[in-house]
Amino acid sequence: MTPRALTLAAALAATGCGGGDGPVPLRLVLDDPTDAPMRGLSADEQAGFDRGDALFARQYLPTQGLGPVFVRASCASCHAGDGRGPGFVERAIAVGADGYTPAPDQSVMPFGPVVRPYFVAPATRGVEAPAEGTPGLLRSVRVGPAVFGRGWIEAVDESEPARIAAAQSLAGRVRGRVPRLADGRLGRFGLKARIATLEEFAADAFRGDMGLTSPLAPTEVANADGLADDQRPGIDLDQASVSDVGAYLRALALPRREGIDPRGRALFERARCSDCHVPALRTRADARPAVLASTEAEIYSDLLLHDMGAGLADGAAEGAAGPRDWRTAPLIGLRFFRSMLHDGRARSLEEAVRMHRGDGSEANGSVDAFEALPAADRAALLDYVGRL
Ligand code: HEC
Ligand code: HEC
Repeated sequence: MTPRALTLAAALAATGCGGGDGPVPLRLVLDDPTDAPMRGLSADEQAGFDRGDALFARQYLPTQGLGPVFVRASCASCHAGDGRGPGFVERAIAVGADGYTPAPDQSVMPFGPVVRPYFVAPATRGVEAPAEGTPGLLRSVRVGPAVFGRGWIEAVDESEPARIAAAQSLAGRVRGRVPRLADGRLGRFGLKARIATLEEFAADAFRGDMGLTSPLAPTEVANADGLADDQRPGIDLDQASVSDVGAYLRALALPRREGIDPRGRALFERARCSDCHVPALRTRADARPAVLASTEAEIYSDLLLHDMGAGLADGAAEGAAGPRDWRTAPLIGLRFFRSMLHDGRARSLEEAVRMHRGDGSEANGSVDAFEALPAADRAALLDYVGRL
């Protein structure tokens, strides 16, 4: 597929549009109440959740600090119903002969790899990428991932990923790496696990996706007009607003699951999906809200980085992650997804599994194990995953 076709396919998949006689479509669950708080919040946590909820849904205006360049004007445009998409981020990177290793010279994207097509006065243009087909340029897409269930990811005990990485290294089938940040903390958020907390992610998203600066991310992103500010002078958001959005994300409940089949779970292990999509990790004793403390976070991820091979590579080296690496995608809430994988290229679960296969992918053995299962077992496994 050409990059442009890929972009389009990802965008269509993310919106749940498109059609044709492709594989069985994803289960779409629209009646469950997302956007609800978890049980047992304190009055303060509930109040923060409500304030953050409103900010997450707000369409920001230029006079509130939107821009000078931006990708979308609201968190919810890329995380509709706290789920995936329909908005997405386009990226472009100069790569070497293998098609994914970043080239030393990134001057084709002088303002960084992220495309920011929209702008507000006084800016006169957005940040665009050179045309498709420019030699040595890799264009890629990231669909906004689901943001529900992320409180559990934040609550996971700091030592869990390292424990699992050690076990993986002993078993020798996959070799996850702990996403350590430069300051020693565990990277948990972002498709390449480059950020430690939900509050920091919110600040990063406000700035990078919307051009809204805050105390944690005080400088506007680089732009072709060389503007260091927008229509709202100085820092656009106060820290309390960013903390409220963090509190909202942290306290988002996941609707209860029903009808989980133990046979599906056993097959999930037999096909070695659980090597990376570890069903549950321990949470910290002091995690907040209280319901997240000292419990099992059923996120279906080891929170480790894995080499997923050349086929899924997007060329981005971020923090501890290399150009072919991705954090094991948490499968929590998968039943709400309209498309899968970082760019939404998979339109069915079966496609998503087969696309784990690639030159050098750590998941090749797991795809082999999946394909070796009798058809009825494959179906039971996919049914199990499709209900998570
Ligand atoms: C233009 C689309 C877009 C907008 C607008 C956007 N996001 Fe995102 N969001 C993404 C993408 C793409 C990713 C994956 C980014 C990465 O890997 O770094 C992401 C990742 C996240 C994550 C991490 C999820 C995980 O599994 O690690 C959180 C939390 C999040 N966004 C919250 C927000 C908040 C809060 C806002 C508003 C301030 C926001 N996003 C605005 C597209 C968007
Ligand atoms: C080597 C580790 C590894 C193994 C083994 C593995 N996965 Fe994954 N899985 C990942 C990573 C990493 C991603 C994210 C890749 C991307 O976004 O491009 C992912 C993504 C997914 C997704 C898409 C989720 C989303 O958010 O879009 C599904 C579904 C999935 N895996 C199911 C499975 C199943 C079922 C199996 C077993 C047959 C399996 N995986 C085996 C690492 C693994």
